[in-house]
Amino acid sequence: LEFDLLAEHYDATRGGEGRGDEYASELDPLLGPADGLVLEIGVGTGVVALGLVRRGRRVVGLDVSLPMLSRAKSRLGQALVQSDATQMAIATSSVDCAVSVWVLHAVKDPTALFREAARVIRPGGSYVVCTAQHAASDDVVGRIIKDMSERVDERRRALRPRGVSIEEVIEWALPAGFRATVRHFDRTWASTKDEELYAIENRVWPALRELDDTDAAEVTAAAIDALRVIPKSVFSRRATADVVVFDLP
Ligand SMILES: C[S@@+](CC[C@H](N)C(=O)[O-])C[C@H]1O[C@@H](n2cnc3c(N)ncnc32)[C@H](O)[C@@H]1O
Repeated sequence: LEFDLLAEHYDATRGGEGRGDEYASELDPLLGPADGLVLEIGVGTGVVALGLVRRGRRVVGLDVSLPMLSRAKSRLGQALVQSDATQMAIATSSVDCAVSVWVLHAVKDPTALFREAARVIRPGGSYVVCTAQHAASDDVVGRIIKDMSERVDERRRALRPRGVSIEEVIEWALPAGFRATVRHFDRTWASTKDEELYAIENRVWPALRELDDTDAAEVTAAAIDALRVIPKSVFSRRATADVVVFDLP
C-alpha cells in the first residue's frame, strides 16, 4: 500500500502536529454541535484528529493503512478503525459528522467513499472535506512545486490526475445525496530549502513514486535547480486551502 511506505516520514514532511492543529482550528467550527461524534476518514498519523480532540471533540479515526494507524494510536489511543473508506466497518447512522483532509486524491473509487459517508453519518449531519491547496502567487517555492506537479501529472497521464478540483469532488458527492457549500482558508507556514529539497529528492509524494527513476529525475531536475539558487534558506510558504462542507438532508 502506498501510504504504508510513507508512514515513517509522513509527519516530518507534511507539517506534523503544527499543521494538524492549524487544520483543526479551521475545521472545528464547521463540524456541527460540540458534543457530536466525529469520524475522521483517512486519519493518517492522527495529527488533525489530535487538534480536534484538544478542542474538546470526540473523534474516531479510520484508515486503511496499519503503519499510519500505529502512529495515530500514540495520539488517539483506541479510537481507531482499520478499514477501507469505500467499505467502512462503521455502523449506519452512527456518527454525527465526518471529516477528511488530503484523502480524496488517494481513493480509487471516490463515489463509493461518498456513498459510504452518507450511510455512516446520521441524517442532518455533515462531511467536511479538504481536498487541495493552491500556492499563493507570491509564494516562490510554492510556484516551483506547482510547476513540477504539473509535469508529474503529464507523465502520469494514464492514471487519474492527483489534483482534485472542487467541481470533481462535488460531482462524486451528489449521487449520495449531499448538498455542497464551498469555503476557503489561507495558510502560512515556515519551511526551509533543505526540507523542500529533501521532499523532492526522496520522492515523498506518492505521485512522484509512481514514476520510474528516469522520469522522476527528468520532472524534478528544474525544480531542484530553481530551489538550489534561492538565496534564502528559511522562508514562509502561503497557500489557499479548499474546503467543501457536504450536508445531508
Ligand atoms: C495524505 S494522507 C492524509 C492523512 C491525514 N488526513 C492528514 O491530513 O495528515 C492520506 C491518508 O488516507 C488514507 N487512505 C487512502 N486511501 C484510503 C482508503 N481507500 N480507505 C481508507 N483510508 C485511505 C491513507 O492511508 C493515508 O493515511
